[in-house]
Amino acid sequence: MKQSNSAPRQAYKVWDRTTRIFHWLNVICVLLLIVVGVIILNATMLGVSPEGKVSLKILHVYIGYIFTLNLLWRLVWGFVGGKYSRWKSILPGGKDYIKQSSAYVDGFRKGDAPAYKGHNPLGRIMIAVMLFLLSAQMVTGLVLAGTDLYFPPFGHEFAEWATGAGENHSMLIGLEPGQKEMLDPEGYASMREFRAPFVEIHEIIFYLLMLAIVLHVAAVVITEVRERSGLVSAMFSGIKYLDKKPVD
Ligand code: HEM
Repeated sequence: MKQSNSAPRQAYKVWDRTTRIFHWLNVICVLLLIVVGVIILNATMLGVSPEGKVSLKILHVYIGYIFTLNLLWRLVWGFVGGKYSRWKSILPGGKDYIKQSSAYVDGFRKGDAPAYKGHNPLGRIMIAVMLFLLSAQMVTGLVLAGTDLYFPPFGHEFAEWATGAGENHSMLIGLEPGQKEMLDPEGYASMREFRAPFVEIHEIIFYLLMLAIVLHVAAVVITEVRERSGLVSAMFSGIKYLDKKPVD
């Protein structure tokens, strides 16, 4: 591997504490959501009872709430956080973005990619895609939590829809929609019709997220092996080690 422009490695403070906590909490939540989600998806094949499936959905939603709060905080942090955590530094675009991207690809091919303290130009595309997929999964998940379990934040409205306005729908909240006698057949049917595309989108995004996670981990490993910048440990310590002057 070519090591041109080599200089003594220098430590740079990059990721602030909020970003690091977000990252690892997000990893834990997403992994748990995937595991419970896969069981829900294959519940029939795995012989899970209907009551068991409801419990799994409740567990999935509780983890989903932690995931949601963490993600929302990160989206806000994009406006107020440290320099390298801000939208300007993590999304593709801005002045010289195309030029920097082609310089990065050229350098990467020659084994001498320019160094970045924050995300490199290609990394920014990956981050944008992942944050978009996570946000879409959060929104569709919250809708499903409302339509399937009548859980907040939208459960009240969906229960009202399913039972007909004016009914005492509070008893539905948190229960499996098995209380058929409380439901207004037409309202329930139209609510389920509204729900259908959200289940499909939630499932499609789940597959896209799995693909994005594999690509993200592969990109991190390849960059770390080439750059030896301590990319992975930087997400714990906040510090990266570069042997070239960083572009940013
Ligand atoms: C990265 C985040 C997430 C992943 C990877 C994920 C994954 C999955 C998967 C694979 C399923 C099974 C799909 C199916 O049965 O068709 C599922 C179902 C579900 N998810 Fe998520 N999920 C995530 C986030 C959330 C969030 C944030 C919530 C709500 C707070 C949520 C609520 C639900 C609900 C209620 C179901 C049951 C839907 C059904 O009836 O099938 N999910 N999720």
